[in-house]
Amino acid sequence: MPQRQILVTSALPYANGPIHLGHLVEYIQTDIWVRFQKMRGHRTVYVCADDTHGTAIMLSARKHGISEEQWIGQMSQQHQQDFADFHIQFDQYGSTHSSENRELCQQIWAQALAKKLIDSRDVQQLYDPEQSTFLSDRFVKGKCPKCGAPDQAGDNCDKCGHTYSAIELIDPVSTISGSQPEIRSAPHFFFQLEKCREVVEDWIARPGTLQSETANYLRGHFLSDRLRDWDLSRTAPYFGFEIPNQPGHYWYVWFDAPVGYIATTWQWCQSQGENLNDWWRNPAAEIHHFIGKDIVYFHTLFWPAILHTAEYALPTRVHVHGFLTVNGRKMSKRDGTFIRGRKYLEHVQPAYLRYYYATKLGDNQDDLDLNIAEFVEKVNSDLVNKVVNLVSRCAKFGTQTGLSARYPDDEGRFAYAAAQSEVIAAAYDAGELSKAMRLIMELADRANQFVDQAQPWKLAKVPEQVDRLRDVVTITLNLYRQIAIYLAPVLPTLQQQSAQLLGEPLNDWRLAQQPLLNQSIGTYAHFMQRLDIKDVEKMIEETKQENAAAAAADSATTTGGGATTNVDSDAAVLAEPLAAECTIEDFGKVDLRVARILSAEEVPEARKLLKLVVSLGGDQTRQVFAGIKAAYNPADLVGRLVVIVANLKPRQMKFGLSEGMVCAAGSGGAEVFLLSPDSGAVPGQRVH
Ligand code: MSP
Ligand code: ZN
Repeated sequence: MPQRQILVTSALPYANGPIHLGHLVEYIQTDIWVRFQKMRGHRTVYVCADDTHGTAIMLSARKHGISEEQWIGQMSQQHQQDFADFHIQFDQYGSTHSSENRELCQQIWAQALAKKLIDSRDVQQLYDPEQSTFLSDRFVKGKCPKCGAPDQAGDNCDKCGHTYSAIELIDPVSTISGSQPEIRSAPHFFFQLEKCREVVEDWIARPGTLQSETANYLRGHFLSDRLRDWDLSRTAPYFGFEIPNQPGHYWYVWFDAPVGYIATTWQWCQSQGENLNDWWRNPAAEIHHFIGKDIVYFHTLFWPAILHTAEYALPTRVHVHGFLTVNGRKMSKRDGTFIRGRKYLEHVQPAYLRYYYATKLGDNQDDLDLNIAEFVEKVNSDLVNKVVNLVSRCAKFGTQTGLSARYPDDEGRFAYAAAQSEVIAAAYDAGELSKAMRLIMELADRANQFVDQAQPWKLAKVPEQVDRLRDVVTITLNLYRQIAIYLAPVLPTLQQQSAQLLGEPLNDWRLAQQPLLNQSIGTYAHFMQRLDIKDVEKMIEETKQENAAAAAADSATTTGGGATTNVDSDAAVLAEPLAAECTIEDFGKVDLRVARILSAEEVPEARKLLKLVVSLGGDQTRQVFAGIKAAYNPADLVGRLVVIVANLKPRQMKFGLSEGMVCAAGSGGAEVFLLSPDSGAVPGQRVH
C-alpha cells in the first residue's frame, strides 16, 4: 500500500463559547478518521485552531470587561482542554489571531489585488453611537419596511418574507445597547467571485471533491446565477486584522478564518522542520476538510477561489456532516439538550460518545440524533456486553496460562476476522463509520459465540485441561485483540488498556493479520462500566437548570430596548388569529398522513409551485402541487418525510390533478417551513 500524505482539518470553533455536543460530532468524526489513517501508516497531520475574530467576540470581551486577547486566550485554553478530554488529538492547535495568520492574509490579499479581484465601493450601514460599532444584521431589530411587523432582524422579515437592507428598517434599535442607530457610509472591499467561476466549477466537478448532495446544492443555489461579490471588509471598531494601507478597515472574519488552516499547518511545519509548500502546494499531498453543513458555502465557493488566487492547492475533499439533534429535536437551552462537552464529562465517559457518534455517522449530510435511550442501550449492549465482556470472561485465565506458542485450530475464526480487515478499512476510509462499527460488532458476536461454546470457566476447574484452557484463552484473546485494533481509532482508551493487558502496543492496523503468541498476560482490571441512564438524565437536568439561571441573569442585565431573545415574538399569532373552535369530530374529518416525497420538479408555467409525487407506502402515491418553490430546492426534497392532507377532494389545475396538500407553516414566499415527523415515523401513518 503506497504511503499517502494527508493534511486534515476540522472547522475552527468560534472563540465565543464552550464546545458542546453538536461541535463534538465533527471533532470526534475527524479524530477517528485521522487516527485510522495514522494506524494505516499514512503520513497524516491534523490541524485546527480557534476562530477568534469578529464583532460577536469583541462584544463578549467588552461585556466581561476584559481585552479581546484575554478573552480569546481563556477560550482557547478551555477548548483545548475539552478536546483533549474527549481524546481528540491535534498535531497542532493554533489561533487565527497569530502572526503567521496575519502574514499569510497579507500575502493572499496582495495576490488578490494584483489579480484585480478586489473592488471597493461605499456601503451604508447602521451604526450604534452608544457602543461605537457598526451593527451587523443580527444586532438590529426594527419594523419591516414592507408589512410593518415589529421586531424584525436586519436582513429579512420573518412575517412577510421580504428581504431588505438593515438601513431600510423602520425605527431600528440596536440590540446591543437598545439605542437608536445612525446611518453611516463607509467604503467596503469586495472579492469578485464571479471571476473565479471556472476554477470553482472545475474543482466541484472533480470526482471525489464533494459528496454529490453538496455539489447539487451548490449548482442549484449559487452556480445557476451570477456569483455575488463577497464583502471582505468590516469597518472599525472590529476585532480582527487591519487591512494593509486601509486604516480603520479590517478583514471580515470569514476571510482570515480558513487561512488559519494554512497558518496552523505552518506553525506545525516550523516545529517539525517541515516545509509548508510540501503540504499546501504539493499535488501529491491530500487536503481534507471536515465541516458542518451550515458552512458549506464558505468552504466550497470562496475558499477554493481564494486558494487558487494565492496559488495554493485546492482541497482534495470537503467532508460535510449534518447537525446533531437530541431526542429528535434541535438542541435547545430550554430542554436542557444544549449540552456542553464539559458537562457531559462530569457524568459520562468520553468513549461512549465517541462510539455512539461512530455508529451514527456515514459519508453524508444527514442530521444525526442523539437519542438518550438508544445511546444507553447501544453502549451497554455493544461495548460492555459484547466487547468488554469478551475479554473480561477470559483474561484472568490468560494471566494464569499465558498464550500458547502455536496458534491452535480455531475453525477459521482468526482468519475470517483478518480477512475483514480491508473491508473495515475501506469503510473507515470512505467515512462510513457506522458501517465499520457494524462489521466490527459482527466479529465480536462471532468471538462471543466461541467463548460460549468453549466455556473456559469450566475448563479452569479441571487441572488436566490446562492445555485446552490455554488454547481457548489464546484464541479468545487473539480474537479480542483484532477487535481492539479495529476499534482503536474510535476508542483510544480501550486500545491502551488492551495494550497493557496484552503487553504489546496495538497501534498498527497490520497487527490484526498475525496472532500474538507465547506471551504472558497482565492482570485485568475493569475496562468499562455499564452506562446508567440516570447519569445521562442528571446531565440533562443540570444543563436545564444552568441554562435557566444564565437566561435569568442575562435578562436582568439587558439594557434599554431589552432584546429578550429567549421569548418568541407574538407577531405570528397576532397576524393570523386562531380559527373558530372545532370539535374532535371536525378534526377527525381531516385525514393527515405521513408521506415520503418520491419526486419534486418545478412547474415552469407556475411561479410558486413545485410538483411533488408523494408515497403513502407500497404503490399508493399522490400528486400534489405545493407553493414552496421560493423556499425549497427540488433536489433537496426528494426522500424526505412530510405530512399531507390525504383525503382532500382532488382538484384539476392548469398543470395537472392535485390530489392533496402538503402541510407547512409560514407566511409564504421564501418563508415556508414544511412540517416533518420525528425520525421513526413511516409513510402511511395517520397523524392524530
Ligand atoms: N468558526 C466557524 C468555522 C470557521 S472554519 C474556517 C464556525 N464555528 S462554530 O463553532 O460555529 O462551528 C464549528 C463546527 O461545528 C462547524 O463545522 C459546525 O458546522 C459544527 N457544529 C456546530 N454545531 C453543530 C451541531 N449542532 N451539530 C453538528 N455540527 C455542528 O462555524
Ligand atoms: Zn414584513
